[in-house]
Amino acid sequence: MTPQPALPDQPRQRLPRDAYVSDSWFETEQNTLFSNCWTFAGVTMDFAEPGDFRVIKAGVCSLIVIRNNTGELRAFHNQCRHRGTELLEGCGNAGKTIVCPYHNWVYGLDGALRGVPAQRACFADLDKKTTALFGASVGIFRNLVFVHPEPDQNFDDWLGDLHQVPWPHDLASADMQENPDDVTYEMNCNWKVFYENAVDGYHLAYLHKDTLGGPTHDKNLWEVFGQNMVWWSTEREGVKHRIPQFVENAARGSGLKTVQAADIPGYGGVYMLFPTTILTPNPWGFSISTMEPVNAGTTRLRVRNWSPKGWLTYTHRAADIPGYDKETGLIKSSHWTQHPLETGDFQTEDIWVCEKMQRALQSPRFKVGPLAKGAGGEAAIDFFQQTILNLMPQ
Ligand code: FES
Ligand SMILES: [Fe+2]
Repeated sequence: MTPQPALPDQPRQRLPRDAYVSDSWFETEQNTLFSNCWTFAGVTMDFAEPGDFRVIKAGVCSLIVIRNNTGELRAFHNQCRHRGTELLEGCGNAGKTIVCPYHNWVYGLDGALRGVPAQRACFADLDKKTTALFGASVGIFRNLVFVHPEPDQNFDDWLGDLHQVPWPHDLASADMQENPDDVTYEMNCNWKVFYENAVDGYHLAYLHKDTLGGPTHDKNLWEVFGQNMVWWSTEREGVKHRIPQFVENAARGSGLKTVQAADIPGYGGVYMLFPTTILTPNPWGFSISTMEPVNAGTTRLRVRNWSPKGWLTYTHRAADIPGYDKETGLIKSSHWTQHPLETGDFQTEDIWVCEKMQRALQSPRFKVGPLAKGAGGEAAIDFFQQTILNLMPQ
């Protein structure tokens, strides 16, 4: 692997308090940062047939990702070239063409404008050839599909050397099965508070002492791949905390591979794909979580889970997760029925502390102290914040 930029030696808080609480910062992020990044759009199996599509929100942009008639995945802005109406909603199969519901302009699955009702009478001068849907970019990495609102974006630049990192599961394998119950958390915190918690290696041994129980800051490692980061626990032999034991047992029982890098004797991990995608191989299989910032103080986290066939009993069912609200199907702290630290669920512990951070951020006296040094400390938080600052207008 080519050398990656190192994490900062002396990490520090770079983002101002406004970044987490202000509506105007949120709006700028939506318009600039998220409208200029790669967003998770699904897995290749979601687009099995020509016409299969998903509509994806990328900041303020609505995008269509669709399999066309020649088998390629394409992406377009979800707006009609007539008066701009949204063309598609949700996901499904569009058939052989995309038809605008407003005045029935018809587009091919390649985005080309094919038909305009009453064209001769109403649009005598219209050149259909130059009136295709606005293009966006698509990239595929290990059956994960990503979309970017700008056309002609270089996906490999964003991936960095991620192609070379060890990878635990082949999602397209016939042995893997998606859990039908996907899970959505609604968290009362800014998306960056949740991201920073996810890359904070310093808390694992403390906040999660009764669930994950480690590893300590010296036994875990964040590595940088472009804007993205991958986490490894280096605690392999003489396992003291529970994650590796789980992984080991699960691997033995299921035939799943644990992740082992050639030069890192450890377990992966967490793959943080900037800005909103979190991939976690786990003892039960594989999870893809995507953050959807709702407003400055609210973030939805959607989780899709895969398991080896026959292992679905080991996956989370939404109704079993602390905070399940049967009215909305969302997981929310307002519906916790016991103290988060008594749930035995590390995700609940994380959400609890993220919401505590967000409440503290409301105070004008809020100030962050020193950050823990090292790749297993809090250096990854500094790296993340620097990446944000590089993308925000000055
Ligand atoms: S806005 Fe789509 S056909 Fe008129
Ligand atoms: Fe955590």
